[in-house]
Amino acid sequence: MATAAHNSTAVHNESGHAALMDHVYRHQRHIYNLTRKYYLLGRDRMIRELALASHEHVVEVGCGTARNLIHIAKRYPGVRLYGLDASAEMLSTARESVRRHGLEDRIVLAEGYAEEMTPALFGRDAPFDRALFPYSLSMIPDWRGALKAAGQAVNPEGRIHIVDFGDLAGLWPPAARLLRAWLRLFHVAPREEIIRGLEVAPKAHQFALLPGRYAFLASLNPTNACDI
Ligand SMILES: C[S@@+](CC[C@H](N)C(=O)[O-])C[C@H]1O[C@@H](n2cnc3c(N)ncnc32)[C@H](O)[C@@H]1O
Repeated sequence: MATAAHNSTAVHNESGHAALMDHVYRHQRHIYNLTRKYYLLGRDRMIRELALASHEHVVEVGCGTARNLIHIAKRYPGVRLYGLDASAEMLSTARESVRRHGLEDRIVLAEGYAEEMTPALFGRDAPFDRALFPYSLSMIPDWRGALKAAGQAVNPEGRIHIVDFGDLAGLWPPAARLLRAWLRLFHVAPREEIIRGLEVAPKAHQFALLPGRYAFLASLNPTNACDI
C-alpha cells in the first residue's frame, strides 16, 4: 500500500484541522464502523448505485476507516481505489483494515486535505473516474474548495458522488435539534447550502433525499460541481 508520507508531515505542521480530526477520532475509530452504521445512512445505496466498470479508478475523499473502500473493492472486482483523509488516526485504522482484508494491492491510502487533493498525491498522472464524499463534506471546513479540487482531479466524463446529512427539515423538530447538537459535538455541520443548490441545479446533477430530509445523495458533473 502506498501512502504519501511526505504529506503526513505537511498536514500536521500546517494547520489545526488535522489535529482536530485526530482528536475527534483518536478513540472513536475503534468503535466507528459499528456505531456509524446506524446513522450514516445511504452509504450502501450510494455504493450500489455507482455501477462501476472494472477499469475505473475511484477516490474516496475523507475515507475514514476505509469501510466504504473495502465494500466497493468486494462488490466491484478490478476497480482501483484510493482513499484520502486528514486524520492520521483514522488512516491507521484504515491501513490495518485494508491489510486484514488482503486489499493492499487495490486500495492506496494517503494523508492530506480534501481541498488540496490531486491524483499526483497517490502517484497517478491520470485523473480519477469518480470521486466519493460519503459524510465528509459536513466535516470539511472549505467544502467548496474540496469540490473544486475533486472537479479538477476527476475526468470530465466522470462523476462526483456525495452522501451526507440533509437539512433535517422533515424530522420532528425536537429530534432534529437533538441530532444537530449531537453532530456539533463531532464538528459535523449539515451543508444545507448544497441541498438548496441541488434543488434548483441543472439536470447534469442528480439528487435524492432520504425520508425526513435526514440525508441526501447526489451525483455531480465534475466540470461544474463547485458551482452548486
Ligand atoms: C464522518 S467521517 C466519514 C468517513 C467515511 N467516509 C465513512 O463514510 O465512514 C469524515 C472523515 O472526513 C475526514 N476529514 C475531515 N476533514 C477533512 C479534510 N479537510 N480533508 C480530508 N479529510 C477530512 C475525517 O478525518 C473523517 O475521517
